[in-house]
Amino acid sequence: MIKGFIFDLDGVITDTAEQHFQAWKKLADEMGWHFDREVNEKLRGVSRMDSINIIRKHNKAKVPEDKLLELATKKNDYYVASLEEITPKDYLPGTKELLTHLRQEGFSVALGSASRNAAKVLQQLGATGYFDAIGDGNSVSKSKPAPDIFLYAAEKLGLKPEECVVYEDAEAGIDAAKAGGFHSVGIGPEERVGHADIRFDSMKEATLFAVKSHFKDLF
Ligand code: BG6
Ligand code: MG
Repeated sequence: MIKGFIFDLDGVITDTAEQHFQAWKKLADEMGWHFDREVNEKLRGVSRMDSINIIRKHNKAKVPEDKLLELATKKNDYYVASLEEITPKDYLPGTKELLTHLRQEGFSVALGSASRNAAKVLQQLGATGYFDAIGDGNSVSKSKPAPDIFLYAAEKLGLKPEECVVYEDAEAGIDAAKAGGFHSVGIGPEERVGHADIRFDSMKEATLFAVKSHFKDLF
């Protein structure tokens, strides 16, 4: 039986992909590196250090490890500053309603995000109260597509993977959910999350009713 829901943050609860893009773009411009929205798509769901390595490789740049860390920290400073602009108006459409329904129906809810800034984003949205447990970039060392972050979140909820539904917008996130034995809901295009148990174009369609209808024997 499904008793819990685990949500990715960026691209599911709110769309911080734009702030991440602007921060990486600023850093890349300073470095004289090429960086555009196409490269940015490859960073969806990917950890900070893995992200800078993708950008570095795309530019065929050789950077020593300590310098790479310094650059990633600089990007993060830009990103964190931009989080101040996030307000309770910035939930993706449908998300706040879904979180409210889950609370009303007594499901357990956790966050399973790769971001080390997840707590700050939830705070800016005023969303912290919807979550019983927070798994973020500080909770585990192996990032998606490893299932560790979702396993961590499920354990915090006291649930088994097969008792939880994971909502994800990243290819690596759906891979992680499947590797851990979770039920999965993909948010986004077929070519990105078509391998989820069920896929919706956006959070607006991914209602509790729609998910219950799909997994009907499990509720
Ligand atoms: C993920 C985002 O949620 O978090 C990625 O999709 C981001 O784009 C990753 O790189 C890590 O975030 P942070 O805030 O720890 O740099
Ligand atoms: Mg995401």
